[in-house]
Amino acid sequence: MEWFIELDQVNDLEQLKQYCVQCRDCDLGKNGSHVVFGEGNPAAKLMFVGEAPGAEEERLQRPFVGAAGQLLDKILGAVGIVREEVYITNIVKCRPPQNRFPKKEESDRCFVYLARQIELIQPKLIVCLGALATRYLVHQEASVTAVRGEVFVKGGIRIIPTYHPAALLRDPSKKKPVWRDFQLINSFYQEVIAKKKP
Ligand code: URA
Repeated sequence: MEWFIELDQVNDLEQLKQYCVQCRDCDLGKNGSHVVFGEGNPAAKLMFVGEAPGAEEERLQRPFVGAAGQLLDKILGAVGIVREEVYITNIVKCRPPQNRFPKKEESDRCFVYLARQIELIQPKLIVCLGALATRYLVHQEASVTAVRGEVFVKGGIRIIPTYHPAALLRDPSKKKPVWRDFQLINSFYQEVIAKKKP
């Protein structure tokens, strides 16, 4: 994998979370934002990566529990993916003030935690929810509109970008393409799950 790792001595998610909670590497951490590390199955085959927590996520210290999260839950339910079986996190673990888009420095510094989460969880499929995750996991120049629904492979992991659920809330015309993307995501996921079974 080409991602830069500096936490390679940390061998479980709980320990990694402790490092992340203490992180003061950017202004978000220095200003006392509560870390939303991620949640779900530590051995998940499918991982969702969003942008950064919002107010509700920070309050509950859980990813995707606000309006966008409720829409994500609906989409997962509609295709038959159980939220507890997957792992959900963000590129940036602290909430940017007024939910502004994370700065490059914040995303760059925080990315080491996601890189190690991926190494520890070893998913078979990662879904990038929105522009920021697409840039970090597919290519820094990638546009989510241009590459959504395509399958990329890095380090043996399939990566599929799609629109962020918050973008769907703003623009319902994105629902159809997202629905198609989730059909694809689910077909890969079912394939992976079926292989696991004896
Ligand atoms: N938007 C995100 O990108 N992540 C969350 O956890 C919530 C909203």
